[in-house]
Amino acid sequence: MPKLQLLPVPLKVVISLTLVILAIGYLVALANLYLTYNLTDGTPGLSPSDLRRAFYGNRDNTKLAAKINGGSMQQFLPKSGDKERILSWIQDGAAEPDYQAAVRPILQANCVRCHNPNGLQRFAPLTTYEQVMAVTQIDRGEPVSLWARVAHTHLQSIGLIFLVLGGVFSFTGIRDRVKIVILVLPFAALLVDFGTRFLAKYSPGFVYLMLASGAAIGFSLGAMTLVPLYEMWLGRPRKAD
Ligand code: HEC
Repeated sequence: MPKLQLLPVPLKVVISLTLVILAIGYLVALANLYLTYNLTDGTPGLSPSDLRRAFYGNRDNTKLAAKINGGSMQQFLPKSGDKERILSWIQDGAAEPDYQAAVRPILQANCVRCHNPNGLQRFAPLTTYEQVMAVTQIDRGEPVSLWARVAHTHLQSIGLIFLVLGGVFSFTGIRDRVKIVILVLPFAALLVDFGTRFLAKYSPGFVYLMLASGAAIGFSLGAMTLVPLYEMWLGRPRKAD
């Protein structure tokens, strides 16, 4: 029962403008996503590794670990076991008692001659726990507080957007079964999207599900915009109607 083309022209105009403005808003949102995340992993282009870095973080590479594990400072740890001791201290949470007991003596013996307030590397001293912590911050990705802020406004506003789009789309001539799938898809994908943004903090593999849900939202938004526009302005009333 395609009824969209039978609507009065002024109503078709306002519906069409709404669809177009929402679609433009979506494209701007995509641009925003791209600009926010594409350089997260250090290389241009949006990829799973950007999302992984943004949501899960980069947990095994603190600045200190990168420097001593294959980096330019590894040469200063000639004694076997020293490097591993520092790395496992970082992995275990970089607590102060372990620092005093195990890490400080290694740094004192090998690093502090340059990394002290008067040394060659005076801008990155490694003489106190606080100074060492400054190069040992573990990157755990976006904080949960940011997730909550983004999630609540997005779920509420995008939910309403899909009420409008779905409301118009439900009057198209698409078969009911297909229609229902396309109507449900963005709501399900929205839940999966924000669910995976949260879960990716615990397991980075969820970024693939996040990408899939983003694609599903884009697909349904495209269908819900283009099919009604086509039927209103280009579609011909079918004989059976
Ligand atoms: C001979 C002097 C010298 C010694 C010894 C030395 N470093 Fe360095 N360190 C430097 C210089 C110079 C830089 C800056 C250039 C670079 O990053 O390669 C640096 C940079 C660093 C940085 C990065 C600092 C920052 O904030 O960017 C870390 C971390 C570091 N060193 C750790 C260590 C550790 C751990 C040791 C001991 C195992 C050590 N260094 C021994 C000279 C030294």
